[in-house]
Amino acid sequence: MAFNHRNLIDINEYSADDLMLILETAERFREVNERRIKKVPTLKGFTVVNMFNEPSTRTRSSFEMAEKRLSADTLNFGGSATSTVKGESLVDTVKTLCSYKIDLIVVRDKHAGAPYKVAQTSGLPVIDAGDGKHQHPTQTLLDLYTIQQAKGGFEGLNVGIVGDISHSRVAGSLGPALSALGANVTFIAPQTLLPARPEVLGAVNVTSNFDEALPELDVVYMLRIQQERLEGAPFPTLREYHQLFGLNRAREALLRPEAIICHPGPINRGVELDSYMADHVQRSAILDQVYAGILVRMASLYLLLGGAEHGSDA
Ligand code: CP
Repeated sequence: MAFNHRNLIDINEYSADDLMLILETAERFREVNERRIKKVPTLKGFTVVNMFNEPSTRTRSSFEMAEKRLSADTLNFGGSATSTVKGESLVDTVKTLCSYKIDLIVVRDKHAGAPYKVAQTSGLPVIDAGDGKHQHPTQTLLDLYTIQQAKGGFEGLNVGIVGDISHSRVAGSLGPALSALGANVTFIAPQTLLPARPEVLGAVNVTSNFDEALPELDVVYMLRIQQERLEGAPFPTLREYHQLFGLNRAREALLRPEAIICHPGPINRGVELDSYMADHVQRSAILDQVYAGILVRMASLYLLLGGAEHGSDA
């Protein structure tokens, strides 16, 4: 199947077939990651810039790992160590980086829309590694990969996305992608953290009653409470939030035996999940999600850089 995308910025531009192609490509890269020598020459000669203007552990490290395993050259750039702190604009920064004849830019930024600006300025392929409250497409791909591995597919699957939906870039891309693949998405949140039009983000159901929703779910996707993005939104105390929307042993007893728990990380322990749920529950897929991050980022880099067209194999 042809892959006709230049950027990975808006998951809504990707059809169900496109998403499945990325997941299939990621699955082929899994074999590379299970070898003793976990490296292929697929992107030898390509240069990728990782521009992270906001903190990250998982996304940044797995992009770096994915690029290294594909033999790309990488430049890690961003944050307080750059001339941005001296007042240099994003546009001038990107023009400067482009002078090095680079091939692709990965962008994380606290401003929604920054990856579009980088794509427009550079004319290069851009991957959105999380922009403000907008989207986090590669997080969605790793979530889809993890869910597919655990559940075998998406059609008719009941997925509950729980927490701060209105400030969540994770929900902003996961909801539409799950919906495109045929899953039934329910948003579960306090009224004050629900978006005005949940259907635009793929939700078919909305509720603030977590305990009532839990027994119906195949996947319980816990969002991080993003205190840095609440911007004065009416919010209960963290303790009250945990009582109403946190996962603990009592709530686990309400789940179907085969239901899985996902979380994008980083976890606020004692808020979205208690430590027992995070560390000791078989059904937690959180570390599977982290591993899938390398696979789907290898697949995204490979497909956007036209790996197949250059005669390289996944
Ligand atoms: N899930 C996620 O984006 O985590 P990081 O902020 O650690 O990259």
